[in-house]
Amino acid sequence: MTTVLYITANPNDASMSYSKAVGDTFIKAYQQSNPEHEVITVDLYASYIPYIDSEVFAGWGKLQSGSDFTALTASEQKKVQRLDALCSQFIEADKYVIASPLWNLSIPPILKAYFDAVAVAGKTFKHTEQGAVGLLAGKKALHIQASGGVYSHGPGADKEMGHRYVKTILTFFGVEDLRGLFVEGHDQMPDRKEDIKTEAEQQAQDLAKTF
Ligand SMILES: Cc1cc2nc3c(=O)[nH]c(=O)nc-3n(C[C@H](O)[C@H](O)[C@H](O)COP(=O)(O)O)c2cc1C
Repeated sequence: MTTVLYITANPNDASMSYSKAVGDTFIKAYQQSNPEHEVITVDLYASYIPYIDSEVFAGWGKLQSGSDFTALTASEQKKVQRLDALCSQFIEADKYVIASPLWNLSIPPILKAYFDAVAVAGKTFKHTEQGAVGLLAGKKALHIQASGGVYSHGPGADKEMGHRYVKTILTFFGVEDLRGLFVEGHDQMPDRKEDIKTEAEQQAQDLAKTF
């Protein structure tokens, strides 16, 4: 069965978030076109996403030197196990829909922590003599990004590191079919904010038919 991971990175719900509202619109339309596909929502702000910290390094270190999992402290076990589960869930999915706001020209830190959880050598990419090679070839992704200014084109494009990062890391994992959908400019053009959202929702509905 085709599995879609719908990853949202916003503490606000859809009534307060352009990226979540457009993401939800996309998922609803996608489910109408693909009722047999499974959609798993990963709401990062409602999930346990461990940072890679000293306990994680200590736990990994023990495992690498041959210790049994039970040799890890309870806290190390909890973090290492959760990071592993997040990575497995990511690998098992066929398609990714990521909805995030642009914060200070980049992604929210919880989304970076999530990518740190799933970026595992030997699982999502591997090292070769020619450089790193992605292991998730054949998967598809859509990144929906909301921003107050316009960054998908024009003078802001060079400064934008949100979609650029998501695109780069997914490409690094071998995901080549990656699209961007931008809900952008509502702070720059406040009189157009309703139109900006409506247009993005329309794009989401159209994209959902072929994604
Ligand atoms: C902490 C924070 C940082 C932001 N940084 C930027 C920014 O760098 N560029 C921009 O155009 N808008 C910025 N904004 C505005 C948001 O990108 C905009 O409100 C967007 O709609 C947020 O996505 P959301 O509606 O899904 O929450 C920022 C907003 C917040 C709260």
